[in-house]
Amino acid sequence: MNYRHQFHAGNFADVMKHVLLGQLMHALQKKEKGFLILDTHSGRGTYDLVRAEVGQTLKRVPEHPAGIGRLLAEGGKDAPHATFPWPAAIREYVELVRAFDQSHGNCDGPVRFYPGSPWIARRLMRPQDRLALCELQEDECLALRAAFAGEERTAVHEIDGYTGLRAMLPPPEKRALVLIDPPYEAPDEWARLVSGLGGALKRSPSAVYAVWYPLTERARLAAFAEELLALRPPPTLVAELEIAGEGAGLRMRGCGLVIINPPWQFEVEVKPVLDWMARELAQAPGARASLRWLVPE
Ligand SMILES: C[S@@+](CC[C@H](N)C(=O)[O-])C[C@H]1O[C@@H](n2cnc3c(N)ncnc32)[C@H](O)[C@@H]1O
Repeated sequence: MNYRHQFHAGNFADVMKHVLLGQLMHALQKKEKGFLILDTHSGRGTYDLVRAEVGQTLKRVPEHPAGIGRLLAEGGKDAPHATFPWPAAIREYVELVRAFDQSHGNCDGPVRFYPGSPWIARRLMRPQDRLALCELQEDECLALRAAFAGEERTAVHEIDGYTGLRAMLPPPEKRALVLIDPPYEAPDEWARLVSGLGGALKRSPSAVYAVWYPLTERARLAAFAEELLALRPPPTLVAELEIAGEGAGLRMRGCGLVIINPPWQFEVEVKPVLDWMARELAQAPGARASLRWLVPE
């Protein structure tokens, strides 16, 4: 496995995924009862964006300037490119990122320390919520474990995320938000994902599942949709963000989040947020956001 999220941290796809993760958590927190947040592919949790330019062998073009970098001007005061007012969800996400960056000692200038999904969840969870983090790569998991040492109601597991689904669902709380965010490098990733999801849905049919996927040439999206439908899932919403139209020549020109059991009215709340992201994070003509029901409510 070669994938290192370090090179992609803070890109447009992280912005979309992390904003929606925050919104899903808020929606579930409308009820007092606590829930499990299960992050099956956690990554290392903290990313030093300065290091994103240094590849293992080659210099890399960093992706964060076209993501979080668009939203945080120097000093983090205002978005340099924002032509439209910030939706509350974006403002809250940016404030969380800036506070995280500052807590790591970077108080001036461009954002440097970016929180991955584990820290987004950790910072938004309440005392009655619980966080379980799975990361298979040893060095990534070591970093994650070190960073979360002593954090209450948080467990780090060096295990396969699909094994984590089997081991941790259904949770004693009977409520769960599951983020599945694989690297899609292995040819059998889509098959493992669908099979893992199928088993999880049998054990926890009412959990909220958020499955991230890329819009690339290689992505087999039509087959993925068919395979999801074959699981006969509960109501399923698909949110997509395209930062460029087809033919723009970008390796990844967008991404999506499949949301199974979306909270009530979630699609209404996130529509303006997604539209805003399509405008502000566009990289070429044809950028757009969309929301559709794969399985209607
Ligand atoms: C896209 S990154 C995760 C990013 C993270 N969710 C975030 O938003 O900050 C995918 C991660 O999954 C890890 N990984 C790959 N295969 C895995 C597996 N089968 N189980 C758990 N983790 C895996 C990789 O090492 C990588 O850190």
